[in-house]
Amino acid sequence: MAQIEMKNIVKKYGDGFPAVNDVSLDIADGEFMILVGPSGCGKSTLLRMIVGLEDITSGDMVIGGTRVNDKAPRDRNLSMVFQNYALYPHLSVYENIAFPLRLSRTPDDEVDRRVKEAASVLELHEHLERKPANLSGGQRQRVAMGRAIVRQAEAFLFDEPLSNLDAKLRGQMRTEIARLQRRLGITTVYVTHDQTEAMTLGDRVCVLRKGLIQQVASPRELYEQPVNLFVAGFIGSPPMNFLPATVDGNTLDTPFGKIELDERRAAAVAGRDLLLVGIRPEYFNDASFVEEDKRRHGMTFTARVDVKEWLGDSQFAYIPYEAPDAIRAKLAELSRELDSEALRTQAIVSIDASSRLREGRDAEFWVDTRKAHVFDPESGENLTRDEEAGAELTRLAEQDRVEQTEDARADLRTDGRHAADADDTDGTADAADRDRPSGGAHRSGAV
Ligand SMILES: Nc1ncnc2c1ncn2[C@@H]1O[C@H](COP(=O)(O)OP(=O)(O)OP(=O)(O)O)[C@@H](O)[C@H]1O
Ligand SMILES: [Mg+2]
Repeated sequence: MAQIEMKNIVKKYGDGFPAVNDVSLDIADGEFMILVGPSGCGKSTLLRMIVGLEDITSGDMVIGGTRVNDKAPRDRNLSMVFQNYALYPHLSVYENIAFPLRLSRTPDDEVDRRVKEAASVLELHEHLERKPANLSGGQRQRVAMGRAIVRQAEAFLFDEPLSNLDAKLRGQMRTEIARLQRRLGITTVYVTHDQTEAMTLGDRVCVLRKGLIQQVASPRELYEQPVNLFVAGFIGSPPMNFLPATVDGNTLDTPFGKIELDERRAAAVAGRDLLLVGIRPEYFNDASFVEEDKRRHGMTFTARVDVKEWLGDSQFAYIPYEAPDAIRAKLAELSRELDSEALRTQAIVSIDASSRLREGRDAEFWVDTRKAHVFDPESGENLTRDEEAGAELTRLAEQDRVEQTEDARADLRTDGRHAADADDTDGTADAADRDRPSGGAHRSGAV
C-alpha cells in the first residue's frame, strides 16, 4: 500500500494537445481518490500514466517514494481493475484469483494461503470452485479484486468499472466497492464521469476540466464550497440553480426577488455588475411548509410552477424565469460543457412531498438565502466561497478516513489469523481442496 504523488504531470499526444495539463495531486496511503469530469477531460489518460500504460510527457510520478516515470507497468506493482473484470472463463474462481501467483511461480502452499485469505475477506470462500460464468456481477467484481489482493498490489486503479451495468446493479456494486476498499484500506484511484459515484465513493474527489484540475476536496466541500461555476454545476443532482443578479449595496436583485447578503458576501461582490447566484434545489420549499421564525433567514416569493414531479419522498417544481441574453448564452455553454441538459433558464426546486402546489398556477416559495453563492459569469469564479469552512469539511473527512483505515487494518490482521488457524486445523477441507478437478487440472497445465 502506498502513497501516490503526481508533480506537474503533463501529457501531450501526437498532435501536441495537452490532454493532461500540469496536474499536481497527492493521494495518501489508503485513500480513495476519485477522478471525475466530463468526457475527454483527461481522466483515463491520467490513470493510465499512473499504471504505466501511457508515457508521461513531463512531470514526476512518484509511488511509495520512488519515481516510476521510466518503470514498466509490471514493475510498478499496481492493480488495474478493468471494466469487464478480465476473468478467465475456463478457470475456477480459485485459479482466477491465484493467477498472478502462478505466473510468478509462487509455491503451492503460499498460493493456497493467500487465495484463502483473500477469499475470506471477499466472502468468496464458498464459491472457489465455481466458474466465472456462474457468478453474479458483484461476485465477479470481487474475484477481480481478489486477484489484485493476492498480488499485494500497492494500489487499485479503476476506470469506469460500473458504466456498463444497469442502474440497480450499479448501485449494489458501488456499495460493494466502497465496503471492500474500507476493509482493505488499499490506496484506490477511481475514474468516473458519474457525479453520484464520485460523491458516494470518494474520500476526496478531483474534478478535471480539459486536462486541468479545478478542485480537489471531500465530497462535502465540493458540494458546499465549490470554487467555480463548473464544479458547482457538475456536482449535485438536480444541479445547482443559477439566477442572474445585479448588486445594490447588500442586496442582490434576482428574477425571484431581492436577496439580502451578509457582510462577508456583500463585500465579496461589491462593485460588480451582472452576476450569477447559485442556490441548490433543496434550499427552496413551498412557503406554507416554512415556519414564521425561519422565514426571516431567507426570501419568500411568488412564481408560477411549470411542471411538477412527485418522487415519493420529495417533489420537484420547475419554475421558469427571465434572463438577459448574456446569461442565457453562459448557461447554455455551461450545460454543453457539463454534458447536462438541465441548466436552463428555469429553477428546479425541491419541495415537501405533501405540498399541493399545482402546475400552471402561481405559488408561494421560500428560499434559504444564507446558502446562496455568487459567481462571476465571465470567469466562473465563486466570489463568495468560504475557504476556511471548506477546508474544515475536508479536514473532518480526512480524520474519518484515517480512523476507518486504522480500524480496518486491525480487523484484517485478526481475520488473516483466523483464516490461517482454520487452515491448520481443518485438514479435511484442505485435502478436498487439493482434489478439486478444475484447480488441479490448471495447476499442472500452467506450471
Ligand atoms: N491515443 C490518443 N491520441 C490522441 N489523443 C488522445 C488519445 N487518447 C486520448 N486522447 C485525447 O485526450 C483527451 C483526454 O482523453 P481521455 O481518454 O483521457 O478522456 P476521459 O476523461 O477518460 O474521457 P471519457 O470520459 O470519455 O472516457 C481527449 O481530448 C482525447 O481525445
Ligand atoms: Mg475515459
